[in-house]
Amino acid sequence: MKASIVVVIICLIVQQTNCEKKCHQKCVCNPKVLTCKGFNQDDIEGDEFANSITTDLERIHITDGDIPELPRNLLGSCADDSSYHLNALKKLDLQNNGIKKINGQTLHCVPNLEELNLANNQWNVSTVHTRTFTNVQNLKKLNLSDALHDEIDSKVHIKHLRLVFLESPFTKLEVLALDNNKFSVYDADTANTMCTFTSLKRLNLAHNIIPSLTFYHKRCLTHLEHLDLSYNSISTFKPYSNHNGLLFSLDQIQKASNLSVNFYGNEFNCDCKMQDFHDWLKRTEVHVFKKNSLICHDGLHFNRSIVSLPSAEFVCLSGDSSSNRSSSSAAVGVLVTMFVLLAIFLSVIAYIKRDTIKHFVTSFKRPSMAKSHLLGNYSSVNNENATDIEV
Ligand SMILES: *[C@@H]1O[C@H](CO)[C@@H](O)[C@H](O)[C@H]1NC(C)=O
Ligand SMILES: *[C@@H]1O[C@H](CO)[C@@H](O)[C@H](O)[C@H]1NC(C)=O
Ligand SMILES: *[C@@H]1O[C@H](CO)[C@@H](O)[C@H](O)[C@H]1NC(C)=O
Ligand SMILES: *[C@@H]1O[C@H](CO)[C@@H](O)[C@H](O)[C@H]1NC(C)=O
Repeated sequence: MKASIVVVIICLIVQQTNCEKKCHQKCVCNPKVLTCKGFNQDDIEGDEFANSITTDLERIHITDGDIPELPRNLLGSCADDSSYHLNALKKLDLQNNGIKKINGQTLHCVPNLEELNLANNQWNVSTVHTRTFTNVQNLKKLNLSDALHDEIDSKVHIKHLRLVFLESPFTKLEVLALDNNKFSVYDADTANTMCTFTSLKRLNLAHNIIPSLTFYHKRCLTHLEHLDLSYNSISTFKPYSNHNGLLFSLDQIQKASNLSVNFYGNEFNCDCKMQDFHDWLKRTEVHVFKKNSLICHDGLHFNRSIVSLPSAEFVCLSGDSSSNRSSSSAAVGVLVTMFVLLAIFLSVIAYIKRDTIKHFVTSFKRPSMAKSHLLGNYSSVNNENATDIEV
């Protein structure tokens, strides 16, 4: 009895702090962990949620809801009250909420956030709000797995994401998950953006549709330990001698870091261009996941393990063109040559048979000239047809 009275008295003294605060009905409130499920837009913007947040929280999970737009000052505003900073908050989990829009000042007041999970959303990355992540400079892990809007072209996503990332000095980021996003491009610009993540250790690009990657080994991703490229659209590789190509770059990174790479689930086209990859697989010190299970997807070596084949087996047969583009350009070349040959042939024939042709042409010309006389109304009196037509 005595203890409960003391509690009540303390509550009266500390009024409207922990004792008076009610936990949102869709949340479970613990001193250091707040877990909310099934939130809608009203829930996230309401006072009840705001009251559920305390500065002691270390983790906040708001998942499996329907929140099209993350409001500004999602976790409260520290602009008016400088004592209000969620300094203890390390992890914010916002996965699976159908989030389409993230406002520029959503992530204020959480200066020590280390882990942000935005997986399984429908984010329409906006260039208006490029400063999305600028207040979370200590972020170590960013999960954007299947986070982007399905109906927007992946090239637009990559461009906009790049702008967002370039605004954010993510020098502490160690883990970046970009898997399951239908990404189709990893070009020099993308590589330069990744370059700004100077501490990056794990990059997950699995389950996209990337056909090839440009890397810059000299300055970039020197701490990379794990690169997941499984289930993409890599069918071939740039030559090893291309120093912006993937294979050469991976070897350079390996010199400073213990690197492992996953290529599983790509549909490799085992022609002469794959010889470099085969040779690289045999000699590289990079740890290649399921190395023996990387197989040829089509052609002569269908379903054969790439490392099991002798290097000399990777050939481009004449007529067996290595890619669609080169085969169609070859076809165009053949057609043009044939037309030129045909033209020469016809000119030669025309020259040899010039007298016959001359005769042929003039014999054609006569009636046609007569006709033009008719149409031109030069009707001669002794031409019967002319009168017929004019009637
Ligand atoms: C994405 O956002 C832009 C404005 O930033 C808007 O014009 C566009 O319609 C949105 N796309 C979708 C699919 O919601
Ligand atoms: C990102 O989140 C998804 C969905 O919860 C999870 O499956 C995946 O393992 C996470 N990725 C990382 C790198 O933590
Ligand atoms: C390098 O990484 C691989 C796989 O990630 C691991 O099996 C191996 O023990 C590591 N080697 C060193 C020297 O750390
Ligand atoms: C490919 O080879 C594996 C065994 O090496 C076999 O189990 C599989 O059925 C083969 N696939 C096809 C499509 O032939």
